[in-house]
Amino acid sequence: MAEISVYEYLGEEFFFELVDKFYQRVALDAELKALYPEEDLKPAQERLAFFLIQYWGGPDTYSQQRGHPRLRMRHQPYPIDHTMREKWLACMLGALDELSPIDPPYSMMKEYFNQAALAMVNTISY
Ligand code: HEM
Repeated sequence: MAEISVYEYLGEEFFFELVDKFYQRVALDAELKALYPEEDLKPAQERLAFFLIQYWGGPDTYSQQRGHPRLRMRHQPYPIDHTMREKWLACMLGALDELSPIDPPYSMMKEYFNQAALAMVNTISY
């Protein structure tokens, strides 16, 4: 059986829809939205879409425009504690559920977002 990437399986449009739905949710959460440096979330939306496209096997437009992802380093300026991680994840999993791609990509992406969001935590709040 030939193996294809998640990107090929779901198609590029899926990723743009996913981040669109994700940022619609971010915009509704004042605390989460306040972390984002730009009032306009569109440029952040595009960066995330191209990162995910690249991560899941599509073209490397993200790295051509932004260089090596180094995601933990890029998130250092933003205080991400567990509450923020949960909010971020809730937005992302909500967006994913809305589109509900069929398995296996669905469970693979869920696992990835869970783990990657945890890795982005850089602040402890008491
Ligand atoms: C699965 C986990 C995550 C992934 C894959 C991810 C991915 C990304 C990417 C690709 C960027 C753009 C980096 C650049 O090129 O400059 C970014 C920016 C950002 N992320 Fe994340 N992120 C994750 C988790 C989080 C979490 C948990 C938070 C906060 C709760 C967060 C908050 C931000 C903020 C505030 C920015 C700056 C917006 C911008 O200008 O692009 N991220 N993230």
